Amino acid sequence: MRTILTTEQLSSGIDRLAAEVQAGSTGGQLTVVGVLTGSIVLVADLIRRLDGPVRLQMVVASSYRGAATTPGRLDMRLDLLPDLAGQDVLVADDIFDTGRTLAALVGELRQRGAARVRSLVLLRKQGRAEVALKPDFVGFEIPDEFVVGYGLDFDGRWRHLPYVAVLEKGEIAAGDLAEVAVVS
Ligand code: IMP
Ligand code: MG
Repeated sequence: MRTILTTEQLSSGIDRLAAEVQAGSTGGQLTVVGVLTGSIVLVADLIRRLDGPVRLQMVVASSYRGAATTPGRLDMRLDLLPDLAGQDVLVADDIFDTGRTLAALVGELRQRGAARVRSLVLLRKQGRAEVALKPDFVGFEIPDEFVVGYGLDFDGRWRHLPYVAVLEKGEIAAGDLAEVAVVS
């Protein structure tokens, strides 16, 4: 494994993200919607840096892929969401890869009548976007490689690492990525 973002870099990145979110604050309540499971570490660190009235709800969004580079069906479970009518919403996810997960979620939240829906991701993979939506806040741009740690997993593992690392070829057996369900 090769570390690309250290704990210290992540920490100052989250400081910056929180400051950017705060700078666009209306002063009213902010509803943070975190995407399970990959965003839990990010969200835990982010909300503790926000001032003002914040509420948090986690939702499930999982993309299952038939192959590593082919996004598949997207499963969303939004039943736990509070009434969003007129609310200021910030959706937070671990990584923007094709962007399909975030684009679908943002569309759904807008449909629920939120006054404003902004989106934030810790990581954005370069050259992968397949949607028009651009996240409002991006922590770090990363190359198109498979990363784990700080919430991100491979086959359910490595979410607990306090840094972000690239899985080297060999750590991912040939075909593994094609078989695994990449669960958000
Ligand atoms: P998107 O819909 O293609 O943007 O995919 C986003 C989801 O795919 C993320 O929420 C992650 O769960 C997963 N994902 C994409 N790239 C990686 C990666 O490099 N490591 C771990 N998970 C990833
Ligand atoms: Mg995810």
